Amino acid sequence: MVNLEVNIGKLQLKNPILTASGTFGYGYEFEDFFDISQLGGIIVKATTAEHREGNSYPRMAETSHGMLNAVGLQNKGINYFVENIYPKLKKINTNIIANVSGSTIESCVEVAERMNELDHITAIELNISCPNVKEGGMAFGTSTCDSYNITSAVRKVYQKQLIVKLSPNVTNIAEIAKSVESAGADSVSLVNTFLAMAIDIKTRKPILSTITGGLSGPAIKPIALRMVWQVYKAIKIPIIGLGGIMNSDDAVEFFLAGASAIQVGTANFINPSVTIDILNGLKEYCEKQGVNDIRELIGGMK
Ligand SMILES: Cc1cc2nc3c(=O)[nH]c(=O)nc-3n(C[C@H](O)[C@H](O)[C@H](O)COP(=O)(O)O)c2cc1C
Repeated sequence: MVNLEVNIGKLQLKNPILTASGTFGYGYEFEDFFDISQLGGIIVKATTAEHREGNSYPRMAETSHGMLNAVGLQNKGINYFVENIYPKLKKINTNIIANVSGSTIESCVEVAERMNELDHITAIELNISCPNVKEGGMAFGTSTCDSYNITSAVRKVYQKQLIVKLSPNVTNIAEIAKSVESAGADSVSLVNTFLAMAIDIKTRKPILSTITGGLSGPAIKPIALRMVWQVYKAIKIPIIGLGGIMNSDDAVEFFLAGASAIQVGTANFINPSVTIDILNGLKEYCEKQGVNDIRELIGGMK
């Protein structure tokens, strides 16, 4: 039997497979496909202080190499989350991680404070990296000073596991990771989507209403992997790796580069049970390779 348990700071995961925010709804929508409590955890879609309609349509597009989206943090706000969604999430027997987003430091602090009161939310992932909102979002995650300030403000009000999700749209991701580590983050997750665009050659118009959006899926995997490796060398807190993970081989690469856990995003749109396939593939890989404990793989690149 392979031991698949990992710790992300104080957060214990039964296995290192998580779902990426915005790609797995609130989790319970997937209950008809498989028992989602088998996963190490679920990172639910973004929650902001206020209700948000998101960007206008079209806000998703397929490209030959990956998916473009500009959903723009659509959600019904923290009050609705607490009253209507949280009671359903409480019934799921795995870690539920809330993705906290906002346009200002104050609004992120407000959401984090509310999340701190919810026993079954075992961690928050502070999103300082959304490329699809006009204010805040990625702007926080592209400057070491802003990422430090927002992380330390949230740290003051949030006592449980604080994960900060980094933007890949930067020159030096290791510097941003160091700034959030010094501001009190317990771990980092990387990467969010890459700023990108697509044009309809018949109409000559951009495909997304917002012109630019975030690219995810297989195209971004080698870049995300490089960033996880760079960050692993720069910081001491654990890393959650993501970006284009489609199967268990992809996941193993992220562990070897230094990730302690991984998230699966775009792949959920192709196969709703992909996380379970990845979990099974990971067990099989470990058995074949004589790996008794998944933690042996973390940072194990030779
Ligand atoms: C439709 C869609 C919605 C997303 N919404 C969020 C979000 O609300 N918060 C967030 O932090 N990331 C969001 N993301 C980014 C993903 O969580 C993930 O970082 C990104 O897709 C890269 O992983 P992947 O290549 O496995 O999809 C979204 C991605 C997609 C495709």
